[in-house]
Amino acid sequence: MKRKILVTSALPYANGSIHLGHLVEYIQTDIWVRFQKMCGHEVHYVCADDAHGTPIMLQAQNRNITPEQLIAEMKKEHQDDFADFTISFDNYHSTHSPENQALANQIYFANKEAGHITTRIISQAYDSSKKMFLPDRFIRGKCPKCNTSDQYGDNCEACGATYTSTELKDPISALSNTTPITKNSKHYFFKLGNFKNDLRKWIKGGHLQNEVINKLDEWFESGLQDWDISRDAPYFGFEIPNSSGKFFYVWLDAPIGYIASFKNYCAGNNIDFDEYMHPDSTTEMIHFIGKDIIYFHALFWPAILKGAGFRLPNYIFTHGFLTIDGKKMSKSRGTFIKARTYLNHLDSEYLRYYYASKLSAGIDDIDLNFEDFQNKINSDLVGKVVNIASRCASFIRKHFDNELSGFLSEPALFNEFNNQSDTIKQNFENCEFHRSINNIMALANKANQYIDEKKPWILAKNTSQNVHVHNICTMGINLFRILMIYLKPILPRTSIQVEVFLNIKTMQWDDISIPLLSHKINEFRPLITRIESNKIQAIIDNSKQT
Ligand code: MSP
Ligand code: ZN
Repeated sequence: MKRKILVTSALPYANGSIHLGHLVEYIQTDIWVRFQKMCGHEVHYVCADDAHGTPIMLQAQNRNITPEQLIAEMKKEHQDDFADFTISFDNYHSTHSPENQALANQIYFANKEAGHITTRIISQAYDSSKKMFLPDRFIRGKCPKCNTSDQYGDNCEACGATYTSTELKDPISALSNTTPITKNSKHYFFKLGNFKNDLRKWIKGGHLQNEVINKLDEWFESGLQDWDISRDAPYFGFEIPNSSGKFFYVWLDAPIGYIASFKNYCAGNNIDFDEYMHPDSTTEMIHFIGKDIIYFHALFWPAILKGAGFRLPNYIFTHGFLTIDGKKMSKSRGTFIKARTYLNHLDSEYLRYYYASKLSAGIDDIDLNFEDFQNKINSDLVGKVVNIASRCASFIRKHFDNELSGFLSEPALFNEFNNQSDTIKQNFENCEFHRSINNIMALANKANQYIDEKKPWILAKNTSQNVHVHNICTMGINLFRILMIYLKPILPRTSIQVEVFLNIKTMQWDDISIPLLSHKINEFRPLITRIESNKIQAIIDNSKQT
């Protein structure tokens, strides 16, 4: 049955560059999306820049440009980075868009009318010289528990205590270095507790990984608090209707940005938005996120959708964080690596393959170890996969005018490659990409073994053996083709080169069952080359400078 699936990756903030940590998510989602499309499903993969919030407003101020200028600049940068990593968004929008404002208002009003919004006066740290309330991250002071100085307004890095910014001792505004005062203001709250039963049911409904469910259970235990969804001016965001000087908190309109991007896409592509958003929709909505934003996606988001009468997500797929050589990314170690810095030295296909080889359905952190990275690419992709094609292609060109033989000499081996299809598919479907890769590499070993045993280079010395050489190399090319079909979601650029080399139409999953025989191919050109150590060193050196 043909599935209709709306897929999203989390929306990157518009105040920073895309780095290798972000790319875990975009590559993971992209592989999944490409896999589903190859299997013939209708998939719409959308994303956007997350453009609102205080940090973006302040960054624009510092640079003496408008927030609109800043977010336009960043959007372009992000889209260039994503394009060069072949992330195949069907639409890339912005949360600062008319579609998002209209949907945010609609969802807000629906929740308000249903009694899920309330207001309350709260007191907060206020910077009188800058005339603005201070988010926790912009206040520094002494930890109320252990007295360590220079701590953020929400938690202490020394003792791990969490507190509110008004509890911080000797607080200082990071914006003006003055002492903030405490000031009252009316805030809007979303009554998350109203959705306790709906959420309990939804969480048990098979929409989340078990590890995520366990985390949510802890949060349930500690009670579902009202969520503060407003911020006072000055703020870069959407003003709340009928309440001057109050804005929607960035995290309210951010997930709405998923469906706003989709709506923007639907308009130009003759897709029925309501079919996807209707509460009884038979379409699927699937979000890929990192584990730091589970609370927003698995509690707030389903609740506000429910409150507004929309469908809920079918699945929220959570991944772990990237570490580099076992540690958090770090500017001083040169491991805070921007997407662009990587691209200046290495091909995106390498990183896609490496991440795929590490990705599972768990939420554990994923380590990028550069030595392992280099070895894996050189031995798997160059040594095993591409090697099959380069070995066979030279004989086909030299002796047979680039035409494959009309005879499949080892149907049993061909079938063995075909028979792995369901297993590999299942592993892609479940986001167990590392398993798919293990399955594929086991087959690549078999293909190399086959050629090693048949030794076409020896047979080729004797023209009477021509038929055998032709059949062996044709067999080799056919095995290579199946491997490349299986790898296509992971290696989209290489796949296009392979389609040119094999002189075939764009490869679909089901093509594996029909061998390529009596078929003219094109000259073989090197597909993937080895990674040299100096390239990796250059990436690290350049990351230290930035
Ligand atoms: N803007 C929010 C998301 C809003 S979604 C409605 C945000 N942006 S982010 O730029 O900080 O992160 C975007 C995604 O990248 C998140 O899913 C986040 O978990 C992921 N990652 C950011 N750093 C990461 C690593 N170091 N490792 C893996 N994923 C990381 O959060
Ligand atoms: Zn402390």
